[in-house]
Amino acid sequence: MEERTVYLNNAATAWPRAPGVAEAVGTMLAEMPEHPGRASGQSCDSHPVIDPLTECRQRLAAMFSIRDPGRVVLCSNATHALNLAILGQDWKNCSGVITSVTEHNSVLRPLAHLRRKHGFDLRIVGLGPGGLLDTDAFDEALERGADLVVISHASNVTGRVQDVQPLFARAHEQGAVTLLDASQTLGHIPVHPESLGADLVAFTGHKALFGPPGTGGLYVCHDIELEQIIVGGTGVRSDLEFHPGDMPMRLEAGTPNIPAFAGLAAALRWHEGNGEASRQIEQALTLRLIAGLEKIPGVQIMDPGRHDRCVPVISFRIRNWPVEDCGYVLLKSYGIICRTGLHCAPLIHAAIGSVPDGTIRFSPSGFTTEEEIDYALRAVAALADRAMPGPG
Ligand SMILES: Cc1ncc(COP(=O)(O)O)c(C=O)c1O
Repeated sequence: MEERTVYLNNAATAWPRAPGVAEAVGTMLAEMPEHPGRASGQSCDSHPVIDPLTECRQRLAAMFSIRDPGRVVLCSNATHALNLAILGQDWKNCSGVITSVTEHNSVLRPLAHLRRKHGFDLRIVGLGPGGLLDTDAFDEALERGADLVVISHASNVTGRVQDVQPLFARAHEQGAVTLLDASQTLGHIPVHPESLGADLVAFTGHKALFGPPGTGGLYVCHDIELEQIIVGGTGVRSDLEFHPGDMPMRLEAGTPNIPAFAGLAAALRWHEGNGEASRQIEQALTLRLIAGLEKIPGVQIMDPGRHDRCVPVISFRIRNWPVEDCGYVLLKSYGIICRTGLHCAPLIHAAIGSVPDGTIRFSPSGFTTEEEIDYALRAVAALADRAMPGPG
């Protein structure tokens, strides 16, 4: 049993979190609750500091390069945000939806559930020869008419970043609403909804933002008014029969996870000073990992041509090893925490050749070291060297 631990599972959830995150969460839990809108005498002089929710909205708006922080709805994760965005469409009048094989189940399953109920035409665009979405298939799908286009900015299996701007521009020409799943990109690369042409952007706080789990959100552009799916207490205007319609309250109900958002605010502050340096480290580590894997006989990198446009997510397989067994041995013999399997993105595996059992996924972060990457490469080389008997 290996004593050391090397964490290469940041695409699932980041570890370590940004400096200051744990302290901010702990402080908020230890201090007397300051419950927005739900205690008397609030916003008096004894509480001069802005609350974590407002701070998160302001810092996220700056990150998105948008002017109005009120367009950032705070959610418990990207899944929550994607459900708000997808379920909040006008389903009675929906003719068709376009999405892609790269999507996570947090996109595919809401669409599948809605389709069972409303029976709309769902078109799933595959990958073209260069690993990006097949633009001809996308255009063909658009010609048949679509009200909603949902695309993930980067695959959580291959790390490949999609060139969404031209696709969203064409979707807008046809009158469709565009939804970007930025779960694997916000924090790694710029995500500017207005220049990308994304009407809605779902994101998470616990991956590349290095914030706590239980945080995420949805950017909603000014022209979109989503149906309200979750309604209830808002802490203000309790006399109204219906949930208020103004943003961001329109899409936020119930007591928010304030300690977690205090942690996210700390993470966003950290990003402002350190994000760029961290991004350069993770990019260099990703290239080091790819170069090292490429040299190991018996290792197959999935989507190998993606070096130039990628986030730090690398999927591979080792000849003659079932991926689950690799994950087990990497953990038990080498202390390497990674992820194996389908990664909640079941459709991409047919496109990249990893059906039925998926891939081994390494996802470093700016807190990973070169030495850890080299250690992981030696571990993979050792596994590849004692390839188990079997087909292939
Ligand atoms: C591409 C993608 N979308 C959505 C999600 C869901 O994120 P969350 O865990 O914040 O709900 C993930 C997380 O694994 C993801 O990788």
